[in-house]
Amino acid sequence: METRIVKVDPLHPDDSLLMPCAEALREGKLVAFPTETVYGLGANALMPDAVERVFQAKGRPQDNPLIVHVSRLEAVPPLVLEISESARLLMRNFWPGPLTILFPKSGLVPEHVTAGLPSVGIRMPDHPVAHRLLDLAGVPVAAPSANISGRPSPTTAEAVIADLYGKVDFIIDGGQAEIGVESTVVDLSTPSPRILRPGGLSAEELSGVLGPLEVFHFQGEGPAPSPGMKYRHYAPKGQVFLASGAPEEQANSIIAGAVSAIASGHKVALLASTDNLPRYERLKEAFGQSLVVIELGPREDLAPVASRLFTSLRYSDSAGASVILAESFPEHGLGLAVQNRLDRASGGKTLSSPKLSILMVCTGNTCRSPMAEVVFKRAWEAVGAPYPVTVASAGTSAAPGLPATGEAVTAVREFGLDLSSHRSRGVLVPDMENADLVIAMARSHKSALLARFPLFAKKIYTLSELVPGVVNGDVDDPIGMGQAVYRQTALLLKRGLTGLASMLAGIRRGHIEDSDWQ
Ligand code: TXA
Ligand code: MG
Repeated sequence: METRIVKVDPLHPDDSLLMPCAEALREGKLVAFPTETVYGLGANALMPDAVERVFQAKGRPQDNPLIVHVSRLEAVPPLVLEISESARLLMRNFWPGPLTILFPKSGLVPEHVTAGLPSVGIRMPDHPVAHRLLDLAGVPVAAPSANISGRPSPTTAEAVIADLYGKVDFIIDGGQAEIGVESTVVDLSTPSPRILRPGGLSAEELSGVLGPLEVFHFQGEGPAPSPGMKYRHYAPKGQVFLASGAPEEQANSIIAGAVSAIASGHKVALLASTDNLPRYERLKEAFGQSLVVIELGPREDLAPVASRLFTSLRYSDSAGASVILAESFPEHGLGLAVQNRLDRASGGKTLSSPKLSILMVCTGNTCRSPMAEVVFKRAWEAVGAPYPVTVASAGTSAAPGLPATGEAVTAVREFGLDLSSHRSRGVLVPDMENADLVIAMARSHKSALLARFPLFAKKIYTLSELVPGVVNGDVDDPIGMGQAVYRQTALLLKRGLTGLASMLAGIRRGHIEDSDWQ
């Protein structure tokens, strides 16, 4: 099918541009258009064939009803059996706006629109383009979000084009949909009103007018009062995992989760609050190739978060992320809708409590890597050890069972650390399997590891790759160079591994660069 793209001024759309689209709607064709929430895919609600084409274009399950859009109050009575007092109150207070109200449907509304339900959802969008288009069409317009079923809803014409080009007659490009999450769906037929879908109008605003409200949580069993609730939704191609807890705990789970996902070969996208962004700075420096960090917005101002949410999920896909780690947001105001969409995008998958395992590698496992092992443990304590990290060391060509060299023992003793019981050992496959990060002291160790364990390539880094600017190049072999060189090596490791510990604890650059352990 040929799809025509019509670009209009979002605030002052030209009638001559909208007229062919309105005409198409009247004739039963499909027109995608902007609203203040997300883009909708419109069809003449009074024509069952046109409505059927909407389901086909989206690949939408037949039992999921559509919302009918109107531009004038007079359009409502013919579509419904009754307008209750509370419905009137809501219409007066919140229309036009991001609120869908369920009414008992009249015979005029085809069964197709409501998927056989006795109620019809109606909303009056607050967007100059939607408003004018509906006015010019002069018919009620059934419009689900203009995405392929199950994908994140579109907030730009580009997103609609990506999903529906060639499947619809017109796509009206009216810029960015401002709110970014869909309308709030309210059911007034129960003794106390229920929010079936949290959305662009907050529960607080609604209950300010209606009194106490129930927010319905579909448990996945029994009949769904709003069929859309039972489908996995808003899902990008990558697997989404949600963090929980206090903002700092969330950052820790996300950092550890990102490191282990990258180690297993994933490209990772982080959906971060502005507040936590600095905590991911070092992670980004270390893993820039395998990591995209996307700023959603401040935890305490959820409008930008809502407005960027779906674009960010789509962006994660286009960046090729196979794992998406998202922060959770406070569930007030628009946060209820944001959290609902994130929950459903994740299909309930949450990030487990953070823990990591690190393997330090040098050649003989008698100098650098054992020093690195104990020094890292100390550095991790110095940043407060916010979650469990286990550390081990091994050598690429180690003779087994040797103690650490006397100079190494002496060098770390200056930091109050004890290497006297260390015994050397070689790197084995299980070491590589168990570790999330394998840290090579020098490039030669990295090459040796890559040659022997190509399957684990994504977890092998030199220390200087992980803390660029803190350690430059190799941690050179001090063997036979005397105590002063060992001391320099120990100091270099202290600096580098404090940097690593800071990265894993989400401490931003410039903080604890050269802490004093004494
Ligand atoms: O903001 C919005 O509401 C956007 C724009 C385009 O207006 N539209 C939208 O439509 O999000 P859609 O189809 O993607 O989501 C409609 C939701 C679904 O969860 C559906 O199950 C529910 O509303 N719904 C529609 N009619 C219903 C009814 N009669 N009873 C219960 N739930 C209904
Ligand atoms: Mg939808």
